[in-house]
Order: sequence, then C-alpha cells, then structure tokens
Amino acid sequence: MQPRKIVIAIDGYASCGKSTMAKELARKIGYIYIDSGAMYRAVTLYCLRNDFFDGDTLRTDDLLQHLDEIEVSFVLNSETGRPETLLNGKNVEQEIRTLAVSEKVSIVAAVGFVRRKLVALQQALGKNKGIVMDGRDIGTVVFPDAELKIFLTAAPEVRARRRLAEMQAKGQTASYEEILRNVKERDRIDETREVDPLRRADDALLLDNSNLTLAQQDEWLMTQYRRAAGIE
Ligand code: CDP
Repeated sequence: MQPRKIVIAIDGYASCGKSTMAKELARKIGYIYIDSGAMYRAVTLYCLRNDFFDGDTLRTDDLLQHLDEIEVSFVLNSETGRPETLLNGKNVEQEIRTLAVSEKVSIVAAVGFVRRKLVALQQALGKNKGIVMDGRDIGTVVFPDAELKIFLTAAPEVRARRRLAEMQAKGQTASYEEILRNVKERDRIDETREVDPLRRADDALLLDNSNLTLAQQDEWLMTQYRRAAGIE
C-alpha cells in the first residue's frame, strides 16, 4: 500500500532544533520542507533595511504601507539540497539568521496583518500535502488538521548552546549570554502575544530533546511518521 501523503507540523520554542528535525525528516521521506520562521525573519530584515524601527518600537503604519511590496519565496540550493530564503528575489538566507534579525523578529511576528499575509502563503504552500513545516502556530493555526503534530522543547541553556555552535560554524559572532537572553525573550513575546501565540495544540505530541542525540530524535520521529502515514 502507498503511504498516505500527510501534513506534518512541528512547533516549539526558539532554537530547540525544529528546523534540523524537520529538514532531515523531509529529506528522508521526500516531502517539501518549509521554514515558516524564515518568512518572519525575511519581513523583519525588510523592516530593518527600511528603518521601520525606533529602538524596539516598530512603526506598523510604515510596514503596512509597504506590505504588498514584500515578497518572500524559497529556492533550492542544488549543492546542499536545502531551501534558501529569498526576499524580493534576492537570497537573504545568511542575513536573516543574524542576531540583529533575531532581536527584532518576535516584534514583527506579533503584528496581526503580518501573520495574516504569511499564514495565507504557508497554507497555499501546503495545500497539496506532502509537506513538513516548522514554526510556532503551525499545528494550531496554519494546519489545525495536520495528521502529525509535534511540539518540541528543550531547556533554554541547551538551546542557547546549540544556537551558539550553529552561529560559530557560520563564522557569525555572538556571546552565549546574548543568545540565551534572546532565546528567552523571544519565547516570552511568542507565548504572550495576542495573535496566534505559541502554544502546544491539544493533539500535538510533546518531545523534550534536551538529552536526546540527533539519531535518537530522528528514530522517534520516523516512528511517529510511519504511524501517521498508515505505514504500520
Ligand atoms: O530561532 P528559531 O529557529 O527558533 O526561530 P524561527 O523558527 O526562525 O522563528 C523566528 C521567530 O519568528 C520566532 O521567534 C517567532 O517570533 C516567529 N515565528 C512565528 O511567530 N510564527 C511562526 N510560525 C514561525 C516563527
């Protein structure tokens, strides 16, 4: 029997390895992987480039006026086999991962009209199923009927250490303390915002991966996938 094509939603806290997990699963099972956080990051980069911030205050009127000029899309890097993010046709994959963007992204992601635009795009990308999407509200808002929902968490210190290693590997500089502060602050904003806050969907499987190796995590996930797709 052919496996059933499904939607897989992976949500959770900042830097807990959602995208590593989602990308690896998508590669293994031949699904499309979409990083919804990259979309919020790209819009944030647009706001920074156009000077829409006064300190930590976003001038939402300015953003709303330019909203239709912001186009976010993805292109597959043929060397790595991984999708990269484009902002108005230009590759911004490296720039959206900097701490400067991380420090502002949760402010932009709390704006209702930004969420409406990006959620519509995410739903369009998933309409044919066969997709793994990670974010904060995928199982609750974007795909409430997803056949498999995972809610991932890990201790903040573990997450900050992982993010530091990831940034160092790319030659980006930031201190552990700065990253830990950012991870905690994003969680706070994401959980307390009025529009589509970060929360576990009632039917999401909870996984704390603080003490799991990548191999253990992948094995657990494949078991969940097989069950949800009706393979066993
Ligand atoms: O750093 P990490 O990979 O954990 O975060 P991300 O997935 O790149 O998301 C960056 C930020 O975008 C989050 O902190 C949220 O503020 C926002 N976001 C959101 O509000 N909803 C989503 N579906 C995905 C991301």
